Amino acid sequence: MTVNDFLPSVYEKQVTSGSVTWRSPSNIALVKYWGKHGQQLPMNPSVSFTLSECATTTKLSWQPKDSEGFSFDLFFEGEKKIAFYGKIEKFLERVQPYLGFLEDFHFKIETSNSFPHSSGIASSASGMSALSLALMSLEEELTGVIDKREFKRKASFLSRLGSGSACRSIDGPLIEWGEHVTIPGSSDLFGVPYPHPVAEVFTTYRDVILLVDKGVKKVSSTVGHNLMSGHPYAEARFDQARNNMDLLQTIFQSGDLSAFTALVESEALSLHAVMLASTPSYILMKPNTLQVIEKVWEYRKETGSALCFTLDAGANVHLLFPDEENDRVMEFIKSDLVGYCQNGQYICDGVGKGAEMLK
Ligand code: DP6
Repeated sequence: MTVNDFLPSVYEKQVTSGSVTWRSPSNIALVKYWGKHGQQLPMNPSVSFTLSECATTTKLSWQPKDSEGFSFDLFFEGEKKIAFYGKIEKFLERVQPYLGFLEDFHFKIETSNSFPHSSGIASSASGMSALSLALMSLEEELTGVIDKREFKRKASFLSRLGSGSACRSIDGPLIEWGEHVTIPGSSDLFGVPYPHPVAEVFTTYRDVILLVDKGVKKVSSTVGHNLMSGHPYAEARFDQARNNMDLLQTIFQSGDLSAFTALVESEALSLHAVMLASTPSYILMKPNTLQVIEKVWEYRKETGSALCFTLDAGANVHLLFPDEENDRVMEFIKSDLVGYCQNGQYICDGVGKGAEMLK
């Protein structure tokens, strides 16, 4: 498929005012997307667990207008949020070639997150996917019913233009993004449900997010991605990610949890290693991030548990483990890890099914 497959449809229907609400989750990458080119195209394939609890709910209301240009108001958790306007404006500019109606309506965007405000959890994946889905609902009102698969594919395509990882939040439980030889149907333009066999254990995996640092990141993801161009280790990193996609195929099928643990942790540490080696270099982990990692390694050595960690572009730690270990691991988190979290805060999440339209 090419971008031409996403050009706007012919809008035959007259639409007056209306509204729609979507709830879209966050996701956690196992093989990381880090480095992009062109218009939000990834340098390597990635795959993520869709989450269930961490989500953004967005109500989009529309009213016809005659004037030219974009017109919208944005409310975040009930309050007008001018600080987000630039980001939304940029997103609308990027998706305009693919949605022919954006200048025909005034939009009211009311959005809120399920996770605590300023928890240091990136909301761009859930936020951009929720808004893209809502815009697709309006497109559907204007064109008539769109095939479900096409709807999701275009929603993922639009989400990617807002934030790369957002294209992996539409569906679940495991979503792959980025063209890769061994993944049929894979594309740099949108995410697809992981097409190979996956052992049962991975469909109910838990993710407990330890809020180690709730502050604003020193270096944004967008800046970090850009530092991969001309990075001395870039090619090796992209090869590593591609190779890990192939290794995961066997791991997902066999349910080999120790191989899974090794691969997922190596991906997280490699992501932060390329940050350390960027010019200028930077460190997003905090001392407590490293303390947690040490503790997880100790715990695994002592108990034989399949608990492992992964990291986003930040200091917070995602603890991944099979559902059947939930009681034991939660006990360990409460006794040994809570002290490393800011204000003792953590979020219990798990693998989810993807976004849903709310009635
Ligand atoms: C480390 O999707 O936030 O979480 O495309 O610039 O919005 P932009 O970046 P973003 O990058 C996410 C990076 C990551 C890894 C991942 O989710 O694959």
